[in-house]
Amino acid sequence: RPKVTLATLRKLYKRREPITVMTAHDFPTGTLVDKAGIDMTLVGDSLAMVALGYTSTSDITLDEMLHHCRAVARGTRSSFLVADMPFGTYEVNPDLAVTNAVRIVKEGKVEAVKLEGGKEMAPTIARLTQVGIPVLGHIGLTPQRQASLGGYKVQGKTVAKAKALIEDALALQKAGCYAVLLEAVPAPVATHITNILNVPTIGIGAGAGCSGQVLVQQDMLGLYGRVPRFCKTYRNLADEIVGALREFSADVKSGSFPSEEHCYPMPKEELERFML
Ligand code: KIV
Ligand code: NA
Repeated sequence: RPKVTLATLRKLYKRREPITVMTAHDFPTGTLVDKAGIDMTLVGDSLAMVALGYTSTSDITLDEMLHHCRAVARGTRSSFLVADMPFGTYEVNPDLAVTNAVRIVKEGKVEAVKLEGGKEMAPTIARLTQVGIPVLGHIGLTPQRQASLGGYKVQGKTVAKAKALIEDALALQKAGCYAVLLEAVPAPVATHITNILNVPTIGIGAGAGCSGQVLVQQDMLGLYGRVPRFCKTYRNLADEIVGALREFSADVKSGSFPSEEHCYPMPKEELERFML
């Protein structure tokens, strides 16, 4: 499969072919996403929770993200690779955001960054895009701000809040975002935003009217506890894995593993001499 670039994403958007996005946080999860032919791989800071066990995405440091970005990059061949900027690495000012985004691209070996926030982030996004770093915007439910949002709640449910989201989306487009991610937004609002923008929207809990869809891999595979309403659980791999681990344990306890097929033989003559 040829390398997915911004031009490829643009082409998919133009022909109204939905763009597929999936998270990955290490070499195997990145390799699997790439192998499945997903258009864009996101090293999301949700990995703080689903891969590192932190209680919120805001706990992850830049160095920890870089470590995971490099691992995903080593498993990625064709998918367009984007990484979240961790909480605290881009809010202070545009200069610091550029410094840290450059690290994510250079040391993390990714092609683009994602950051959360609406029109207040426009000057920062403009700076990043001007220095050649593609930016994926992220509005609606912004998990890094869950404390100030009062939890993980759907956003833009009132006319006033929907209008603010529309303004944010337009500001992100104007600032140069190559796409805008919409999280936990009523479907009619997300569809409207998709219709008025001329860059793709990527939805998660934002309905079928978006230009593309993203899910968190551990959630959709049933590997991480309770999943939000908007996530479809495609497999229950945790059950599969625990089942396999229990079988291994039972096999070892009963002596049925390892059996002969899992053991290395010794040449017959050597064995005879060895046994003497
Ligand atoms: O961190 C993440 O995985 C994300 C997705 C929820 C879009 O930002
Ligand atoms: Na994120």
